[in-house]
Amino acid sequence: MAFPAGFGWGAATAAYQVEGGWDADGRGPCVWDTFTHQGGERVFKNQTGDVACGSYTLWEEDLKCIKQLGLTHYRFSLSWSRLLPDGTTGFINQKGIDYYNKVINDLLAHGVTPLVTIYHFDLPQALEDQGGWLSEAIIDIFDRYAQFCFRTFGDRVKQWITINEPNTYALIAYEMGIFAPGVPHPGTGGYQAAHNMIKAHARSWHSYNSLFRREQKGMVSLSLFFGWSEPADPNSVPDREATMRVISFTLDFFAKPIFIDGDYPELVKSRVASMSKKQGYPSSRLPEFTEEEKKMIKGTADFFAVQYYTTRFVKYQENKKGELGFIQDMEIDYFPDPSWKGVGWIYFVPWGIRKLLKYIKDTYNNPVIYITENGFPQRDPPSLDDTQRWEYFRQTFQELLRAIHVDGVNLQLYCAWSLLDNFEWNDGYNTRFGLFHVDFEDPARPRAPYTSAKEYAKVIKNNGLEGSS
Ligand code: GAL
Repeated sequence: MAFPAGFGWGAATAAYQVEGGWDADGRGPCVWDTFTHQGGERVFKNQTGDVACGSYTLWEEDLKCIKQLGLTHYRFSLSWSRLLPDGTTGFINQKGIDYYNKVINDLLAHGVTPLVTIYHFDLPQALEDQGGWLSEAIIDIFDRYAQFCFRTFGDRVKQWITINEPNTYALIAYEMGIFAPGVPHPGTGGYQAAHNMIKAHARSWHSYNSLFRREQKGMVSLSLFFGWSEPADPNSVPDREATMRVISFTLDFFAKPIFIDGDYPELVKSRVASMSKKQGYPSSRLPEFTEEEKKMIKGTADFFAVQYYTTRFVKYQENKKGELGFIQDMEIDYFPDPSWKGVGWIYFVPWGIRKLLKYIKDTYNNPVIYITENGFPQRDPPSLDDTQRWEYFRQTFQELLRAIHVDGVNLQLYCAWSLLDNFEWNDGYNTRFGLFHVDFEDPARPRAPYTSAKEYAKVIKNNGLEGSS
């Protein structure tokens, strides 16, 4: 079975994870610069993205990798603080514009479509100093930054992701304090940040729609992370309900307002309200959208972008002590099956992606779906012959074929995470997701293909798997 004609084959990266050049040519600091420079073992061996893969100076090496794979699409993100060092359009860094112009023009000259993420976890530090995603002021500032991106690059970029995984970032950065800026706000920060991210996304979609769409004819969405969830005991009603809560609190939390009706799922609203009441809050910890905001948010995505890595089993776990927190609000525990092989938090469960795609199709009116990230890592030191890891990709492609041909899912693009080994946030360079190996000990940062890269190139060339069923 082959993929549909015209299916898009991509690989993805993100600015802070690959570019390096953290203070080159006028780039302003972002929250990850501050966070990694503070040390404190919050990142593996206190590693930083100061140099990373050096893509800021070695872009041409990346382009060679892209050509070797035969990608139809390359997904990368813009470093906000490289373009606007203090986050605002008060000062525009021409050197930053020049860099991305070169990347975009080179891609197009080689027949590769750029899929551009406007913001991928790297908030300018100057904006974090004013409250970051916890402050409502960010909505307007993000919208202006997005408009600047559309105006500057939108004559050539036709596929945009406004915010990468707002659901991950709101939770891991602003609720748990594990990601930069590193300050936990249990039970409140995640909701507040998510609320502002949804509004910022929606505002920038409207800006595109009213100011740029007619001329540029592009598409705008946001990418949502979801680890598929299955009830630990399928016969247990509490486990099944707990699983629904995970889906509602993580995926539907963003997708329902944006794709359906402008508002959070009832399940989330009632649950956070009742937990807040028990904890003595005068009102729900989950902020509310006004009627006007609901109208503004509804329908603000031109395709459904989703990122899948793994699956978990879910069990009901009562929050007996009324503890404050996002997971505690859901009253769940989640865990992998003991038989699954895993590296870090990612367990080898390719079948979860088919269930996720089917869920999106059924819940969100059969949208056009892009998988904007999917992958499986190796631990450092990795093996160039990563045949075992390729098995994850191969089985994933089989699941995608079933999703398309059996379930009728309208999947049009797949991006592997990642083109290169890169700075994997708190795991530094210890977790390697690349299709290409990067030697981080060598100042020239040479790239070399893993077996997975060679196999992926074959799949792209054939637009399918050979001999798959
Ligand atoms: C995603 C994130 C990427 C990458 C990947 C692998 O959540 O968008 O930046 O780190 O996970 O963990």
